[in-house]
Amino acid sequence: MLEKIDELLVEVSNFSSVNKDEIEQFRIKFNGKKGILNDIFAKFKEVPNEQKKEFGQKINTLKQAVESKLDELKNATSSNIILEKEDLTRPGFPSELGTRHPINLVKNRIIEIFKSIGFAVADGPEIEDDWHNFTALNLPEYHPARDMQDTFFIETNPDILLRTHTSSVQIRYMEENQPPIRILSPGRVFRNEAISSRSHCIFHQIEGLYIDENVSFADLKQTIQFFTTELFGKSKIRMRPSYFPFTEPSAEVDVYWGLNSETDYRITKGTGWLEIMGCGMVDSAVLKNVNIDADKYSGYAFGMGIERIVMLLYQMSDIRMFFENDKRMLEQFSGL
Ligand code: DAH
Repeated sequence: MLEKIDELLVEVSNFSSVNKDEIEQFRIKFNGKKGILNDIFAKFKEVPNEQKKEFGQKINTLKQAVESKLDELKNATSSNIILEKEDLTRPGFPSELGTRHPINLVKNRIIEIFKSIGFAVADGPEIEDDWHNFTALNLPEYHPARDMQDTFFIETNPDILLRTHTSSVQIRYMEENQPPIRILSPGRVFRNEAISSRSHCIFHQIEGLYIDENVSFADLKQTIQFFTTELFGKSKIRMRPSYFPFTEPSAEVDVYWGLNSETDYRITKGTGWLEIMGCGMVDSAVLKNVNIDADKYSGYAFGMGIERIVMLLYQMSDIRMFFENDKRMLEQFSGL
């Protein structure tokens, strides 16, 4: 009997096949209900007691040999199956690439334009304090102009808020640096406004600031004209007197868009002019708040909304699209 098992062990170790049917026959022969292993186990009872130990060990060795052989064959055939099915020279599945968000595309373009004339990018926090967002910008408590910007305050601390404009970065930068200063601050801003096709509670702005000796309103106008020519290909601008607490004098800038198409009539309300930003000469009170000598230095600042400019450039009509991230919209900006 023991010799028989030895022979079976040799048979098991010699067996090899990649044919599924042959392997199945091998399994049935050894491991099936009426297979060799069960048969031998059944005979175990008849084995005399003094041989039981040796016999038992032998059977177990055979059983393990059969099982590891079956595992080995299974693995071999499953990898064979993959090799049969897969054409490894076939090109891979195309992975879908994302696209840059139009807000970022235009933001980067605007940064490039100003970088080419010496502006550097400066960042500031989105969660601000009252001083940087309002007070230092010449908007003290109870100043009526605060109402123009519906602010999200932190409930437990009215001193902390979500910045309502990127002008706060002006203050942060001037507190840390002395002139000459030439910075651009892009970023998200927040206002408690009802969401519609024209306005959103989150949007993006770019702030510009230039402080040096003898900076004049003419410098401001030249810079903005350079900018509109570069970005829109339009050099005709006009500056309308306006009011911002942090600049004096202040102006709003319109670009002459033209009246060449029906869309031009619609977006310019038939005037041909489009408003694109606010600007002005930095108020001396602001310079004093950040310890810059207002007798020695002067400067200009400007601020614009990025969404509005993207909408103009790409003729988009609903600001909500920028925040929905619908792939069908984003895909239209691939390659730009
Ligand atoms: N902060 C203003 C706003 O959010 C925009 C602005 C206007 C910024 C005039 C300026 C400026 O720097 O000089 O509406």
